[in-house]
Amino acid sequence: MLSLAVFVSGRGSNLDAILNSIENGVINAEVKAVVSNKLNCPAIDKAKDLDIPYFFVSGTDSDKFIEYNELIDEFTKLNIQLIVLAGFLKKIPASFTDFYHNKIINIHPALLPSFGGKGMYGMNVHKAVFDISAQVSGPTVHFVNSNYDEGKIIAQKPVDISKAESPEDIAALVLKEEHKLLPFVIKKFAENKILIKHNRVYIED
Ligand code: GRF
Repeated sequence: MLSLAVFVSGRGSNLDAILNSIENGVINAEVKAVVSNKLNCPAIDKAKDLDIPYFFVSGTDSDKFIEYNELIDEFTKLNIQLIVLAGFLKKIPASFTDFYHNKIINIHPALLPSFGGKGMYGMNVHKAVFDISAQVSGPTVHFVNSNYDEGKIIAQKPVDISKAESPEDIAALVLKEEHKLLPFVIKKFAENKILIKHNRVYIED
């Protein structure tokens, strides 16, 4: 069984999608920790409801505050094998991303390498996609390194947005696919079917 840690900053719909896929037996994994930079957000409420251990990397006065180097110790104790950034908005220090090289993945709500980088999160992404009149968008799951949205791409799902009338329309269309793509990639991880060859990422059937 794959031991997961999920990083969140808000709504937590991708965390829900992961938990549902585990619950339904689609992914053989367990979410052993939730980490957030927001002390109060729906995703943290979910962790509390389910008694999943949670940590905060912001808000030094909280008794759940933890430094990234201490988080490595906690994750080692919990035997965390994959870290999933599911709507996590803070930059992670290079010491942490280097330690977990090729073991941290992120979901981005556009087709990287377009519409990524600093400031490109949430509705900013969908607004930029809308304003340039892109006809296709969709989620990208990629490895995380110390630069925003720059790790190798693992999986993408193109979505036809030619009929979208607002950035919100695009967000809704893309989010629906995020909830499928992220669990799919985690499942493949759990099955050891994500391979790196020729400096590219391959997913085995
Ligand atoms: C998602 O659109 C994800 O792609 C982006 O942040 C959003 C998080 O949504 N990185 P949620 O918190 O999972 O509902």
